[in-house]
Amino acid sequence: MHAVAPELPIGQSVSEEFVRIRKRRDQDVDRLVRLIGSVRDVDGYPSHVTGAGLQTFVVAGDELAALVAEDEAGVAVGHAAVHEPAVSPVTDAAAAATGRGLSGLACIARLFVDPAVRRAGVGGLLLDAATDAAWGMDRWPFLDVWEALPNALALYDSRGWLRVGTEDIVFTSPCVEACRHVGNSIRSHVLVAPPPSAPSRPA
Ligand SMILES: CC(C)(COP(=O)(O)OP(=O)(O)OC[C@H]1O[C@@H](n2cnc3c(N)ncnc32)[C@H](O)[C@@H]1OP(=O)(O)O)[C@@H](O)C(=O)NCCC(=O)NCCS
Repeated sequence: MHAVAPELPIGQSVSEEFVRIRKRRDQDVDRLVRLIGSVRDVDGYPSHVTGAGLQTFVVAGDELAALVAEDEAGVAVGHAAVHEPAVSPVTDAAAAATGRGLSGLACIARLFVDPAVRRAGVGGLLLDAATDAAWGMDRWPFLDVWEALPNALALYDSRGWLRVGTEDIVFTSPCVEACRHVGNSIRSHVLVAPPPSAPSRPA
């Protein structure tokens, strides 16, 4: 097993030659929290979570699976999770599109990649692995994505994910100065994975 080096600066130990997807470990968390801080600075994701909230954003209480992409030194350069769906208009849209109930769905969440290694295939690998994990539990993968995240939308389009709704997600917790959205809500698209038989992945 690789030793994880959470003290390394974001982006400085990364080799794009080798990336491996594995389950997230407790030792990854400090680095992932710093990584999501960096992603937030670059992309504005997450838009409404800052400071100490970033740790519980990454390590949520409703995870069915949590994965990292690690480089050849064992350093986490990306993350994706599979969450138990909550009752919400987003989940309703996914349920209507797939014909699945709550227990037959899984929400792909917390997908992010070190800004230093973008467009190297890491996000695609993480999305595929999280999607496979959901199907492996006989749950149809779905997600919601803020309309202001064009890279993510491009990734989902490249994998053949289907837009099945648009929802305004209203924040119940107060905004802070560092929030990256306007007003008290964000407009998000609801997407479902293509059926497993659909030829959606690059060869
Ligand atoms: C979305 C994200 C995870 C993609 O990670 P990545 O490692 O750069 O993605 P990949 O290299 O695997 O890209 C796979 C495909 O997605 C599409 N894509 C990804 N980023 C793109 C961009 N900036 N412009 C155009 N297409 C893009 C392309 O089709 C790409 O294939 P190609 O490089 O062969 O053309 C990354 O940009 C990120 O962390 N964004 C901020 C966090 C975020 O928005 N998370 C989603 C929350 S719902």
